[in-house]
Amino acid sequence: MQHAHLTVDTHAPIGRINRRLFGSFVEHLGRAVYDGVYEPTHELADADGFRTDVIALVKELGVTAIRYPGGNFVSGFRWEDSIGPQESRPQRLDLAWHSTETNQVGLHEFSSWLEKVGSELMLAVNLGTRGMQEALDLLEYSNLPTPSTLSNFRAENGRAEPFAVAMWCLGNEMDGPWQLGHRSADDYGKIAAQTAHAMRSFDPSLELVVCGSSSASMPTFGEWERVVLGHTYELVDYISCHAYYEDKGDRASFLASGVDMDRFIDTVVATIDHVKAVRKSDRVVNISFDEWNIWYNTRFENVDKIQGIDNWPIAPRLLEDVYTVTDAVVFGSLLISLLKHADRVTSASLAQLVNVIAPIMTEPGGPSWRQTTFFPFAAASAHARGEALRVNVATETYPTEAFGNVPTVDAVATFDSSANRAAVYLINRSETEEVQATIDLGSLPPVSASAKTMHDEDPNAANTLEEPDRVGLRSNDSVRIDGSGVSITLPPISWTEITLSM
Ligand code: AHR
Repeated sequence: MQHAHLTVDTHAPIGRINRRLFGSFVEHLGRAVYDGVYEPTHELADADGFRTDVIALVKELGVTAIRYPGGNFVSGFRWEDSIGPQESRPQRLDLAWHSTETNQVGLHEFSSWLEKVGSELMLAVNLGTRGMQEALDLLEYSNLPTPSTLSNFRAENGRAEPFAVAMWCLGNEMDGPWQLGHRSADDYGKIAAQTAHAMRSFDPSLELVVCGSSSASMPTFGEWERVVLGHTYELVDYISCHAYYEDKGDRASFLASGVDMDRFIDTVVATIDHVKAVRKSDRVVNISFDEWNIWYNTRFENVDKIQGIDNWPIAPRLLEDVYTVTDAVVFGSLLISLLKHADRVTSASLAQLVNVIAPIMTEPGGPSWRQTTFFPFAAASAHARGEALRVNVATETYPTEAFGNVPTVDAVATFDSSANRAAVYLINRSETEEVQATIDLGSLPPVSASAKTMHDEDPNAANTLEEPDRVGLRSNDSVRIDGSGVSITLPPISWTEITLSM
């Protein structure tokens, strides 16, 4: 048994937690949309063809904003294909995922689904195969009140009121050689600046996200951000970060993925502030961490990729990773990392939502279920409210191949003064040892405490079609109020949420 002592800094909050931190991402990829959120022939489908069981799960997950329609998909997407009568919409090849896009779900359908799940739309424009004019057309179609040529067209298609989309992504992962229309930082920065300027001429209140690096391991990481922001700093509100983690056979390093995410965010913040200083700007640019998750990408690259000139399936099974308890523990630590940076990460999108590297799985004509990663997200979305609070952690460390010596325990706290409630989120990265943790809550002595933990005797346990409820958050009855704080036992490889009332 190890020991850790944690002190919650109640005097200098990190910052207010923007509810957009609990956003997600739905891409036209695999079975995310078709046979995922949309399955008109399913017995649980509503009149619009959306699965009501999936709607209920998305609401339970507590997703606040959803990035759409891609992802790599958006860089070859013609938005006009997906509006108007469904029977007249063209089928197109999706070169990003080597699939056929039927366009049966588009802006109108997805917006009506978002109204059902109670989530905000965050739209990405295609700056890969298309450019500024198409982005402006989509903006006019989406956001302008009638009359105008494109807004009238929207009204004819059944939507008189604008969709009023506030947040727009200027392309997707344009640093990635796999991206259609991939460009150098300089070329992308210029196009992004021109597009942002044009979009702001339409509506200066739009919130614009310029593409950052598609991972911290890209060879251009750092320099990409500096150059792109050099062109766009005064025109955008966010720069994006994307990060996916997987267990490549080194579990100790995998459990420390949050350390990598911390460093990634700190580096991008430093780069943003460097550009700000050089420009002598008053503007604050923040981070939209609009793709983050566990993703067994190596498996996709080596085994699952679709190929062949005559092989363009509709809604194929792609990126359908099954998440273990260990995956969910690491996933929970990524949430801790995001909350620790709530002052600068003011929007984030769990990538993705249904069937594709997803917390929610469905079977065509069959049931839907929660993956292990569903539980930390739903808990944090429900309880991590108000301000994020720094936690100083005195803990043992352990060696990792990837990140050197890493703290065994990591944590963050939140305090919602309007409800007089707090929460503490903790990971125990030890593969073998329990940690007895004492947490000093300083000026926030609790009157009640309860805790839930993600842990299993089998760290590879998962929820599947055959066994959908094998894993969940289990009540951790070791939590005790102890003077001005609490004590708790954290099992090996575990993620814990403690909820407190003051
Ligand atoms: O989320 C899956 C893919 O990961 C997205 O399409 C792309 O943006 C990223 O590389």
